[in-house]
Amino acid sequence: MKKYSGRKVFVAVFISGRGSNLKSLINFSKKKISPIKIDIVFSNNKNAIGLKFAKEKKIKIVHLKEKNFYNLEKKLVKILNKRKIGLICLAGFMKILSNNFIKKFNGKIINIHPSLLPKYKGLNTHRRVIENKEDYTGCTVHFVNSKLDSGKIIFQKKIKIFKKDNEKTLAQRVLLEEHKIYPKAIMKILS
Ligand code: GAR
Repeated sequence: MKKYSGRKVFVAVFISGRGSNLKSLINFSKKKISPIKIDIVFSNNKNAIGLKFAKEKKIKIVHLKEKNFYNLEKKLVKILNKRKIGLICLAGFMKILSNNFIKKFNGKIINIHPSLLPKYKGLNTHRRVIENKEDYTGCTVHFVNSKLDSGKIIFQKKIKIFKKDNEKTLAQRVLLEEHKIYPKAIMKILS
């Protein structure tokens, strides 16, 4: 594949837990074709497992001691601007960002969601698709706007649900596809 020849966009990845999508994004960022450099990782949860991987890869982790989320966001905005972050990737980030924050980075925040949006916004998507006996589910990368899981869709992958699937098997299969589509979505908007 071709080497990316432009200036790499500085990315901040926001996580809350396991960080498998963060891992896939870090691996992608190291490829020659990648238009991004992961500059910082932020987590609202200092015990997020995903932070270990960022640390191993020597990526700066932002720790903010601030109980009030509004004040925390204000500090975060300053850091993101100072470091010239051009794209914020939410990857299993389970906190809702304020409208004020979203406006400050208008069009520069993207999220990955484990469903075929606009269906199944919110939490427990796999459980709900199985309960509703859907034939298909999927995963979606979309721009973040002020409404939950509702911004413009960038990339989507449809996945067949088998009769033998349960919440766990489905979550695993969807996650594997998530790891593939997040880099594809980034390529689509940046190169
Ligand atoms: C992923 O399945 C992601 O799509 C989902 O959380 C998981 C995080 O896994 N995100 C949401 O549900 C956001 N509404 P990871 O920490 O291993 O990337």
